[in-house]
Amino acid sequence: MTPLQPTLTVSTSSRSYPIFIQPGLLAQGGSILASLLPAKRAIVVADEAVWHRYGQVLADSLAAAEFSFHILTVAGGEGSKSYSQLEQLLERALALAPDRQTAVIAFGGGVIGDLAGFAASILLRGLPFVQIPTTLLAMVDSSVGGKTGINSPHGKNLIGSFYQPHAVLIDPTVLTTLPHRQLLAGYAEVVKYGLIADADFFAWLEHHGAAALKDKDLAKLSYIIEKSCAHKATIVGMDEREGGVRALLNFGHTLGHALEAALGYSDALLHGEGVAIGMVFATELSQHLGLIAPELSQQVVKRVRDHLTAVGLPIHHRHLPAAAQDSQSLLTLMAGDKKAVARRLTFVLLDALGHALVQRDVPSADVLALLAVGRVNG
Ligand code: NAD
Ligand code: GLY
Repeated sequence: MTPLQPTLTVSTSSRSYPIFIQPGLLAQGGSILASLLPAKRAIVVADEAVWHRYGQVLADSLAAAEFSFHILTVAGGEGSKSYSQLEQLLERALALAPDRQTAVIAFGGGVIGDLAGFAASILLRGLPFVQIPTTLLAMVDSSVGGKTGINSPHGKNLIGSFYQPHAVLIDPTVLTTLPHRQLLAGYAEVVKYGLIADADFFAWLEHHGAAALKDKDLAKLSYIIEKSCAHKATIVGMDEREGGVRALLNFGHTLGHALEAALGYSDALLHGEGVAIGMVFATELSQHLGLIAPELSQQVVKRVRDHLTAVGLPIHHRHLPAAAQDSQSLLTLMAGDKKAVARRLTFVLLDALGHALVQRDVPSADVLALLAVGRVNG
């Protein structure tokens, strides 16, 4: 049998690696990995719900390719990105006596990928790592680009490493069981690529996105995933460690992260929902600061709001619990964002639909004014 060709390749200074995207790919996981990894030994770190549904398919494919492997399950959800879960995972992995050629395979959403990737980066000073993402968010964003980590009581993703995987295997079929709210949250990151880098893709999403999500159309979802991964691969290839252009991937995240923090990273607001609200806010701020040509700006804001509303994503924080309503607290949280330098407000903004820039020193008065306007009219 001819080996499956990668759909995309990510080329960074620390590693180049393939991304495979194909419905039904999970059943070929073992044979693909056999030719990419240094040895047929693996520790699979799996989201326990995902393992329950899809573990047998992956296990059969690894066994057919003559891997010797162990499964370590971890609960999905943000709570697993913690010191205690990391410690338990490291100790459970070490009890299996891995050597430096034993791969860690993350099988789950962004939580499992971030946790297992960080563990892989520090176990024996670095084990080969594979991402098999099972949420839309993980397929289009977190599995590509090598950011790994856990949360600290001081904030989200503050402990971690840049550690690129050896391969990313994406089987869109597993999205059929993903709860719709989670699918939508991942879709916010898809829309982000259109807004910051690809106006034609955004226009395609305006026409096909809602149906792709509603019907869980695998052909359209595969296209969406491939386009998104291609954008992420290009940006990460230019700037692996976020010294420049990679910061644009944080479009919508300044307010989004502040809202998540205000709500204690709870189920009241999923990450992608915060990003959706943050993208609308950032587009309105771009208009307010005169960055978008005046004759276009109203239309750009309308298209962003209309598309996110059409698919069912939130566009304003006024419906969130009271903890997310205090503009002054949100401002303080935004000033502490990882992009901010010396607590000066920094936003990723648009100067056109499909083109973004990092704007430093955004006046807090403008941000406060817009938060207030949105509350009345948004
Ligand atoms: P998640 O991993 O918690 O998964 C969400 C839920 O979906 C979980 O309950 C999980 O059990 C369930 N699930 C997963 N796959 C399923 C499937 N196929 N069918 C049914 N249920 C399934 O959350 P997420 O949204 O995938 O990831 C969020 C995390 O990703 C956050 O911690 C965020 O910080 C991180 N993230 C990281 C990066 C990065 O570059 N590393 C980028 C974006 C987000
Ligand atoms: N999700 C943002 C990044 O990977 O840089």
